[in-house]
Amino acid sequence: MALSAFYAVWGLLLEVAIAFGPVPRITWEHKEVQLIHFNESKVSNYSTLLLSEDKNVLYVGAREVIFALNAVNIAEKQHELHWKVTEDKRTKCAVKGKSEQTECRNYVRVLQQLNDTFLYVCGTNAFQPTCDYLNLISFELGGKNEDGKGRCPFDPAQSYTSVMVDEELYSGTSYNFLGSEPIISRHSHQSPLRTEYAIPWLNEPNFVFADVIRADPNSTDGEDDKIYFFFTEVSVEYEFVGKLMIPRIARVCKRDQGGLRTLQKKWTSFLKARLICTIPDKNLIFNVINDVFILKSPTLKEPVIYGVFTPQLNNVGLSAVCAYNLSTVEEVFSKGKYMQSATVEQSHTKWVRYNGEIPNPRPGACINNEARASNYMSSLNLPDKTLQFVKDHPLMDDSVTPMGDRPRLVKRDVKYTQIVVDRVRALNGTIYDVMFIGTDRGALHKAISYENGMHIIEETQLFPNFEPVQTLLLSSKTGRRYLFAGSNSGVVQSPVAFCDKYTTCVDCVLARDPYCAWKPLEASCIDIFKEGEMERNWIQNIGGDASSCSVCSAQRPEMNGGTSTVTCE
Ligand SMILES: *[C@@H]1O[C@H](CO)[C@@H](O)[C@H](O)[C@H]1NC(C)=O
Ligand SMILES: *[C@@H]1O[C@H](CO)[C@@H](O)[C@H](O)[C@H]1NC(C)=O
Repeated sequence: MALSAFYAVWGLLLEVAIAFGPVPRITWEHKEVQLIHFNESKVSNYSTLLLSEDKNVLYVGAREVIFALNAVNIAEKQHELHWKVTEDKRTKCAVKGKSEQTECRNYVRVLQQLNDTFLYVCGTNAFQPTCDYLNLISFELGGKNEDGKGRCPFDPAQSYTSVMVDEELYSGTSYNFLGSEPIISRHSHQSPLRTEYAIPWLNEPNFVFADVIRADPNSTDGEDDKIYFFFTEVSVEYEFVGKLMIPRIARVCKRDQGGLRTLQKKWTSFLKARLICTIPDKNLIFNVINDVFILKSPTLKEPVIYGVFTPQLNNVGLSAVCAYNLSTVEEVFSKGKYMQSATVEQSHTKWVRYNGEIPNPRPGACINNEARASNYMSSLNLPDKTLQFVKDHPLMDDSVTPMGDRPRLVKRDVKYTQIVVDRVRALNGTIYDVMFIGTDRGALHKAISYENGMHIIEETQLFPNFEPVQTLLLSSKTGRRYLFAGSNSGVVQSPVAFCDKYTTCVDCVLARDPYCAWKPLEASCIDIFKEGEMERNWIQNIGGDASSCSVCSAQRPEMNGGTSTVTCE
């Protein structure tokens, strides 16, 4: 992309007061709705959350404390564990020029379910990241004090992400005290793996999310499970004054064992691509990714990846949600072109599309039945040519385009920080993907997009002090759906809908909320997933047509005092 094009884009961003984005239909102030809070005095930075749906427990990693809370009512604390930095470590950390009061503490950054009885936990531990095993029965640490380098950042201010897959921890973080060496690694006793420390692999990344997508059990190609990482990094492929940020998706294969000589103990399956989230006809580019949620549902043919984005220079405060289907992502990695660096004018390198011959097996591909048929049983058998190629060409030339080629939602005057998505079936059988999006001012937007537009059902002020939503989780157990939000000052539990706040049929229907319907018999707005059987006479219309409300009054003339006005009040 040419430099001038980018200037034009920024120029536009600065000038135009774009009339973008739906306004939330209703705003709930903090005190108006029933939320459950958890926080303890002297404890701060409740930024790591882990939900155990089986046990109904919400684990919370805060500064120097881990809590276990009842996930049905987080005000009920079940356990707490203090995990402090030793005096000695704190002093040493301060000597290195870090703040003894803030930075030289233990910020819990990794909370992952290892198995039924243990969580794997890591904390920054005064710039000496440490991991341990938390016994869920005694709620005590095993005292292993493993070196957490590469699994947890040194600096609590640095980005990190992790996911536990089959008792192995995959993480994206930095590997050194200065935070200058980024790494995506697998912590495993049999086969630890990591990224090369090289700019084409990772260039000042800001990690936001990681998750596993399992191979389709019905497929016959013997594909591997894959772990996806999402981050924003500094571009190598575009020329720009200053640092141009690019949102990325990267993936590795679960059965990767590294190479035998080339790429020994390094990923042989690490590939990354640019995620596109733009409005081409408005010249708007959202190039910073803030969070991701991967929607997996039995009613979906394939997982859908939802990302929240902001532009790099965000003077007008714009945010967007883009959604990607997995097959588009896989197409880029399995069939797309690679990029290569070319030296121009002696010292200057330029990244261009690679049009040469591609070695076989395809560089970066997981070992599948086809590879096995050619006797490549593991990445350790891969030929040097393939390995050398992927080592030099981790970046794809093709980008991942969003479904529908544009954002699902664009909103002005807000910075979106977190997202979760719930897939619900409305009364008439239509399926909606309801997006819950946290903002940097402590609010939550609940939105749906449908064929001819988008609709923000409501805005809820989760945190009274307008601080950023740092973590957002969804519990989608049937009949018991909640959201959990973590921030610096505490954790909040919110129901997914506030149907009972609507007191008339028209209000209830005009909310256009897939969770809510009017129940004429009780004259109340109900959460349809909390009731047993759905009934035919309930009224809901996501299109916003409330005319059915008059029908219900005909059945219940006593409700409107015998007059002929037709409402359900
Ligand atoms: C911890 O929380 C405090 C506010 O309570 C905030 O000022 C600080 O930046 C937070 N630190 C980190 C590393 O998130
Ligand atoms: C992926 O998304 C596009 C919409 O952009 C859609 O047309 C296509 O059918 C989707 N692919 C699959 C396999 O669902």
